[in-house]
Amino acid sequence: MIKKGIILAGGKGTRMSPLTKAVNKQLLPIYDKPLIFYPLSILMLANIRDILIIVNKGQLDQYKKILPNGKNLGLKIRYEEQDKPRGLPDAFLIGEKFIENKNVALILGDNFFYGQNLTKSLVKSSKIKNGAKIFLHKVLKPELFGVAKVNKNKKIISIKEKPKKFFSDYAITGLYFFDKNVVKFAKTLKKSLRGELEIVDLLNIYKKRNALNADFIGRGGAWLDTGTMEDYYKTISFVSAIENRQGLKIACLEEIALSKKWVKKKNINQAIKFYGNCDYSKYLKKLI
Ligand code: TTP
Repeated sequence: MIKKGIILAGGKGTRMSPLTKAVNKQLLPIYDKPLIFYPLSILMLANIRDILIIVNKGQLDQYKKILPNGKNLGLKIRYEEQDKPRGLPDAFLIGEKFIENKNVALILGDNFFYGQNLTKSLVKSSKIKNGAKIFLHKVLKPELFGVAKVNKNKKIISIKEKPKKFFSDYAITGLYFFDKNVVKFAKTLKKSLRGELEIVDLLNIYKKRNALNADFIGRGGAWLDTGTMEDYYKTISFVSAIENRQGLKIACLEEIALSKKWVKKKNINQAIKFYGNCDYSKYLKKLI
Protein backbone atom coordinates (compact mmCIF):
# COMPACT_ATOMS: atom_id res chain seq x y z
CA MET A 1 0.00 0.00 0.00
CA ILE A 2 1.42 3.40 -0.94
CA LYS A 3 0.50 6.24 1.38
CA LYS A 4 3.31 8.66 0.61
CA GLY A 5 3.90 10.67 -2.54
CA ILE A 6 6.53 13.10 -3.79
CA ILE A 7 5.95 15.90 -6.30
CA LEU A 8 9.16 17.00 -7.97
CA ALA A 9 8.53 20.66 -8.65
CA GLY A 10 11.95 22.22 -9.08
CA GLY A 11 13.89 22.25 -12.32
CA LYS A 12 15.33 24.99 -14.48
CA GLY A 13 12.48 25.28 -16.95
CA THR A 14 15.02 26.28 -19.61
CA ARG A 15 12.76 25.38 -22.51
CA MET A 16 10.11 27.81 -21.30
CA SER A 17 12.37 30.73 -20.53
CA PRO A 18 11.79 33.72 -20.21
CA LEU A 19 8.45 32.67 -18.64
CA THR A 20 10.31 30.65 -16.04
CA LYS A 21 12.95 33.24 -15.13
CA ALA A 22 11.04 34.77 -12.24
CA VAL A 23 8.34 32.16 -11.65
CA ASN A 24 8.80 28.41 -11.34
CA LYS A 25 7.13 26.40 -14.11
CA GLN A 26 4.82 24.58 -11.70
CA LEU A 27 3.32 27.87 -10.56
CA LEU A 28 2.42 28.99 -14.07
CA PRO A 29 -1.26 28.76 -15.00
CA ILE A 30 -2.80 25.82 -16.80
CA TYR A 31 -6.04 27.54 -17.74
CA ASP A 32 -7.66 28.41 -14.38
CA LYS A 33 -5.26 26.99 -11.80
CA PRO A 34 -1.53 26.61 -11.18
CA LEU A 35 0.16 23.67 -12.89
CA ILE A 36 1.06 22.05 -9.54
CA PHE A 37 -2.65 21.41 -8.82
CA TYR A 38 -2.77 18.79 -11.59
CA PRO A 39 -0.06 16.38 -10.34
CA LEU A 40 -1.28 16.93 -6.78
CA SER A 41 -4.80 15.92 -7.86
CA ILE A 42 -3.38 12.70 -9.32
CA LEU A 43 -1.79 11.73 -5.99
CA MET A 44 -5.07 12.54 -4.23
CA LEU A 45 -7.00 10.36 -6.67
CA ALA A 46 -4.57 7.55 -5.79
CA ASN A 47 -5.61 8.11 -2.14
CA ILE A 48 -2.17 9.44 -1.24
CA ARG A 49 -2.46 12.07 1.51
CA ASP A 50 1.05 12.33 2.92
CA ILE A 51 2.90 14.51 0.43
CA LEU A 52 6.37 15.95 -0.01
CA ILE A 53 6.83 18.74 -2.54
CA ILE A 54 10.41 19.33 -3.66
CA VAL A 55 11.04 22.87 -4.88
CA ASN A 56 14.03 24.91 -5.97
CA LYS A 57 16.04 26.64 -3.31
CA GLY A 58 14.63 30.13 -2.79
CA GLN A 59 11.13 29.36 -4.12
CA LEU A 60 9.57 27.86 -0.98
CA ASP A 61 7.67 30.98 0.04
CA GLN A 62 5.87 31.20 -3.29
CA TYR A 63 4.65 27.61 -3.00
CA LYS A 64 3.55 28.01 0.60
CA LYS A 65 1.31 30.90 -0.41
CA ILE A 66 -0.81 28.63 -2.55
CA LEU A 67 -0.35 25.27 -0.75
CA PRO A 68 0.61 26.01 2.87
CA ASN A 69 0.35 22.64 4.67
CA GLY A 70 -2.51 20.73 3.09
CA LYS A 71 -4.70 20.81 6.21
CA ASN A 72 -7.63 22.40 4.43
CA LEU A 73 -7.49 19.59 1.84
CA GLY A 74 -7.24 16.78 4.38
CA LEU A 75 -3.59 16.30 3.40
CA LYS A 76 -0.25 16.59 5.10
CA ILE A 77 2.05 18.60 2.83
CA ARG A 78 5.72 19.05 3.60
CA TYR A 79 8.45 20.75 1.59
CA GLU A 80 12.13 20.20 0.87
CA GLU A 81 14.44 22.30 -1.26
CA GLN A 82 16.71 21.08 -4.03
CA ASP A 83 19.70 23.36 -4.53
CA LYS A 84 20.15 22.33 -8.17
CA PRO A 85 18.56 19.84 -10.58
CA ARG A 86 20.47 16.62 -10.00
CA GLY A 87 18.01 14.38 -11.81
CA LEU A 88 14.71 12.73 -10.96
CA PRO A 89 16.10 10.02 -8.61
CA ASP A 90 17.47 12.83 -6.41
CA ALA A 91 13.88 12.98 -5.09
CA PHE A 92 14.58 9.80 -3.14
CA LEU A 93 17.80 11.11 -1.64
CA ILE A 94 16.22 14.42 -0.63
CA GLY A 95 13.09 12.58 0.50
CA GLU A 96 14.80 9.81 2.49
CA LYS A 97 13.59 11.09 5.87
CA PHE A 98 10.07 11.68 4.56
CA ILE A 99 9.90 8.20 2.99
CA GLU A 100 10.75 6.45 6.31
CA ASN A 101 11.50 3.16 4.56
CA LYS A 102 7.96 2.93 3.15
CA ASN A 103 6.65 2.50 -0.39
CA VAL A 104 6.35 5.80 -2.24
CA ALA A 105 4.94 7.36 -5.41
CA LEU A 106 6.72 10.02 -7.46
CA ILE A 107 5.06 12.42 -9.89
CA LEU A 108 6.77 15.12 -11.93
CA GLY A 109 5.39 18.55 -11.23
CA ASP A 110 4.91 19.36 -14.90
CA ASN A 111 3.04 16.22 -15.97
CA PHE A 112 -0.66 16.28 -16.85
CA PHE A 113 -2.80 13.14 -16.79
CA TYR A 114 -6.47 12.76 -17.65
CA GLY A 115 -8.68 9.85 -18.57
CA GLN A 116 -11.67 7.74 -17.89
CA ASN A 117 -10.11 4.69 -16.30
CA LEU A 118 -7.25 6.57 -14.73
CA THR A 119 -8.64 6.77 -11.21
CA LYS A 120 -9.27 3.03 -11.08
CA SER A 121 -5.83 2.28 -12.32
CA LEU A 122 -4.25 4.78 -9.86
CA VAL A 123 -6.00 3.21 -6.89
CA LYS A 124 -4.90 -0.24 -8.05
CA SER A 125 -1.29 0.89 -8.48
CA SER A 126 -1.23 2.46 -5.04
CA LYS A 127 -1.71 -1.01 -3.63
CA ILE A 128 1.60 -2.44 -4.87
CA LYS A 129 3.64 -4.13 -2.18
CA ASN A 130 6.82 -5.03 -4.03
CA GLY A 131 8.63 -3.80 -7.09
CA ALA A 132 7.96 -0.72 -9.19
CA LYS A 133 5.18 0.33 -11.51
CA ILE A 134 5.34 2.81 -14.37
CA PHE A 135 2.70 4.22 -16.69
CA LEU A 136 3.24 4.06 -20.44
CA HIS A 137 1.57 6.11 -23.14
CA LYS A 138 1.88 5.86 -26.93
CA VAL A 139 3.51 8.90 -28.52
CA LEU A 140 4.30 10.05 -32.03
CA LYS A 141 7.87 11.12 -31.24
CA PRO A 142 9.36 8.52 -28.91
CA GLU A 143 12.86 9.90 -29.49
CA LEU A 144 11.98 12.75 -27.12
CA PHE A 145 11.19 10.52 -24.14
CA GLY A 146 12.31 7.66 -21.96
CA VAL A 147 10.84 4.70 -23.81
CA ALA A 148 9.88 1.14 -22.84
CA LYS A 149 9.56 -1.92 -25.02
CA VAL A 150 6.92 -4.40 -23.91
CA ASN A 151 6.24 -7.98 -25.01
CA LYS A 152 2.89 -9.55 -25.88
CA ASN A 153 2.10 -10.03 -22.22
CA LYS A 154 2.74 -6.35 -21.65
CA LYS A 155 5.83 -7.13 -19.60
CA ILE A 156 8.65 -4.61 -19.95
CA ILE A 157 11.60 -6.12 -21.76
CA SER A 158 13.80 -3.09 -22.22
CA ILE A 159 13.95 0.64 -21.47
CA LYS A 160 16.03 3.44 -22.97
CA GLU A 161 16.35 7.20 -22.56
CA LYS A 162 15.63 9.22 -25.73
CA PRO A 163 16.51 6.46 -28.26
CA LYS A 164 17.85 7.84 -31.56
CA LYS A 165 16.79 4.72 -33.49
CA PHE A 166 13.17 3.52 -33.30
CA PHE A 167 12.76 1.09 -30.47
CA SER A 168 9.18 1.40 -29.21
CA ASP A 169 6.58 4.15 -29.14
CA TYR A 170 5.61 3.70 -25.51
CA ALA A 171 6.86 6.72 -23.57
CA ILE A 172 7.47 6.41 -19.85
CA THR A 173 5.30 9.03 -18.21
CA GLY A 174 6.20 11.01 -15.10
CA LEU A 175 4.30 8.90 -12.60
CA TYR A 176 6.04 6.09 -10.74
CA PHE A 177 5.19 3.79 -7.85
CA PHE A 178 8.09 2.25 -5.93
CA ASP A 179 8.55 -0.18 -3.08
CA LYS A 180 10.66 0.76 -0.08
CA ASN A 181 13.93 -0.34 -1.74
CA VAL A 182 13.91 2.80 -3.86
CA VAL A 183 16.09 4.89 -1.52
CA LYS A 184 18.66 2.13 -1.24
CA PHE A 185 18.76 1.72 -5.04
CA ALA A 186 18.87 5.48 -5.70
CA LYS A 187 21.97 5.69 -3.52
CA THR A 188 23.84 3.31 -5.85
CA LEU A 189 23.24 5.43 -8.98
CA LYS A 190 26.08 7.26 -10.70
CA LYS A 191 25.73 10.50 -12.67
CA SER A 192 25.21 10.07 -16.41
CA LEU A 193 27.15 11.91 -19.12
CA ARG A 194 24.76 14.85 -18.82
CA GLY A 195 25.68 15.07 -15.13
CA GLU A 196 22.36 13.89 -13.67
CA LEU A 197 21.03 10.82 -11.90
CA GLU A 198 18.77 9.07 -14.41
CA ILE A 199 15.35 7.60 -13.70
CA VAL A 200 15.95 5.04 -16.46
CA ASP A 201 18.95 3.69 -14.51
CA LEU A 202 16.80 3.37 -11.41
CA LEU A 203 14.06 1.59 -13.35
CA ASN A 204 16.66 -0.75 -14.83
CA ILE A 205 17.64 -1.90 -11.35
CA TYR A 206 14.03 -3.00 -10.80
CA LYS A 207 13.88 -4.54 -14.26
CA LYS A 208 16.97 -6.65 -13.63
CA ARG A 209 15.25 -8.04 -10.55
CA ASN A 210 12.17 -8.77 -12.62
CA ALA A 211 10.26 -6.29 -10.50
CA LEU A 212 9.27 -3.61 -13.03
CA ASN A 213 5.64 -3.57 -14.11
CA ALA A 214 3.73 -1.41 -16.54
CA ASP A 215 0.28 -0.01 -16.77
CA PHE A 216 -1.06 1.83 -19.79
CA ILE A 217 -2.82 5.08 -20.37
CA GLY A 218 -4.98 3.94 -23.25
CA ARG A 219 -6.51 5.78 -26.18
CA GLY A 220 -9.19 7.27 -23.97
CA GLY A 221 -6.61 8.92 -21.75
CA ALA A 222 -4.32 11.87 -22.15
CA TRP A 223 -0.81 12.47 -20.94
CA LEU A 224 0.96 15.72 -21.61
CA ASP A 225 4.37 16.79 -20.47
CA THR A 226 3.95 20.54 -20.23
CA GLY A 227 7.68 21.27 -20.47
CA THR A 228 7.73 22.91 -23.92
CA MET A 229 5.82 26.01 -24.99
CA GLU A 230 3.80 24.04 -27.49
CA ASP A 231 2.74 21.30 -25.08
CA TYR A 232 2.10 23.88 -22.39
CA TYR A 233 -0.46 25.63 -24.59
CA LYS A 234 -1.89 22.31 -25.79
CA THR A 235 -2.56 21.40 -22.16
CA ILE A 236 -4.29 24.73 -21.53
CA SER A 237 -6.52 24.23 -24.58
CA PHE A 238 -7.32 20.70 -23.46
CA VAL A 239 -8.37 21.77 -19.96
CA SER A 240 -10.35 24.73 -21.27
CA ALA A 241 -12.19 22.55 -23.81
CA ILE A 242 -13.15 19.88 -21.27
CA GLU A 243 -14.11 22.30 -18.49
CA ASN A 244 -16.21 24.55 -20.67
CA ARG A 245 -17.95 21.65 -22.30
CA GLN A 246 -18.79 19.69 -19.18
CA GLY A 247 -18.99 22.41 -16.56
CA LEU A 248 -16.77 20.16 -14.42
CA LYS A 249 -13.30 21.11 -13.34
CA ILE A 250 -10.16 19.05 -13.78
CA ALA A 251 -7.91 19.01 -10.71
CA CYS A 252 -10.18 20.94 -8.37
CA LEU A 253 -8.38 19.85 -5.18
CA GLU A 254 -11.22 20.79 -2.82
CA GLU A 255 -13.73 18.81 -4.88
CA ILE A 256 -11.57 15.67 -4.69
CA ALA A 257 -11.01 16.09 -0.94
CA LEU A 258 -14.75 16.60 -0.37
CA SER A 259 -15.73 13.60 -2.48
CA LYS A 260 -13.34 11.44 -0.48
CA LYS A 261 -14.77 12.84 2.78
CA TRP A 262 -11.35 14.09 3.87
CA VAL A 263 -12.82 17.55 4.52
CA LYS A 264 -16.11 19.12 5.53
CA LYS A 265 -18.23 21.94 4.14
CA LYS A 266 -16.50 24.26 6.60
CA ASN A 267 -13.17 23.68 4.82
CA ILE A 268 -14.70 24.47 1.45
CA ASN A 269 -16.04 27.74 2.86
CA GLN A 270 -12.56 28.56 4.11
CA ALA A 271 -11.16 27.86 0.64
CA ILE A 272 -13.76 30.17 -0.92
CA LYS A 273 -12.67 32.94 1.45
CA PHE A 274 -9.02 32.26 0.68
CA TYR A 275 -9.39 32.36 -3.13
CA GLY A 276 -11.75 35.33 -3.06
CA ASN A 277 -14.32 36.28 -5.66
CA CYS A 278 -13.39 34.22 -8.74
CA ASP A 279 -14.85 31.50 -10.95
CA TYR A 280 -12.98 28.84 -9.01
CA SER A 281 -14.73 29.96 -5.81
CA LYS A 282 -18.09 30.02 -7.59
CA TYR A 283 -17.49 26.41 -8.58
CA LEU A 284 -16.67 25.52 -4.96
CA LYS A 285 -19.88 27.22 -3.81
CA LYS A 286 -21.89 25.01 -6.13
CA LEU A 287 -20.30 21.91 -4.58
CA ILE A 288 -21.76 22.70 -1.17
P1 TTP B 1 12.61 18.44 -16.87
O1 TTP B 1 11.48 18.69 -17.81
O2 TTP B 1 13.59 17.41 -17.22
O3 TTP B 1 13.44 19.76 -16.59
P2 TTP B 1 13.00 21.27 -16.34
O4 TTP B 1 11.64 21.40 -15.78
O5 TTP B 1 14.09 21.88 -15.57
O6 TTP B 1 12.90 21.91 -17.79
P3 TTP B 1 14.01 22.20 -18.90
O7 TTP B 1 14.44 20.87 -19.43
O8 TTP B 1 13.25 23.02 -19.88
O9 TTP B 1 15.13 22.98 -18.26
O10 TTP B 1 12.03 18.06 -15.45
C1 TTP B 1 10.84 17.38 -15.27
C2 TTP B 1 10.19 17.83 -14.01
O11 TTP B 1 10.96 17.48 -12.85
C3 TTP B 1 10.01 19.32 -13.90
O12 TTP B 1 8.77 19.53 -13.31
C4 TTP B 1 11.13 19.79 -13.02
C5 TTP B 1 11.39 18.61 -12.13
N1 TTP B 1 12.81 18.40 -11.76
C6 TTP B 1 13.24 18.70 -10.49
O13 TTP B 1 12.47 19.19 -9.66
N2 TTP B 1 14.51 18.41 -10.14
C7 TTP B 1 15.40 17.85 -11.00
O14 TTP B 1 16.56 17.60 -10.61
C8 TTP B 1 14.95 17.57 -12.33
C9 TTP B 1 15.88 16.96 -13.33
C10 TTP B 1 13.66 17.85 -12.66
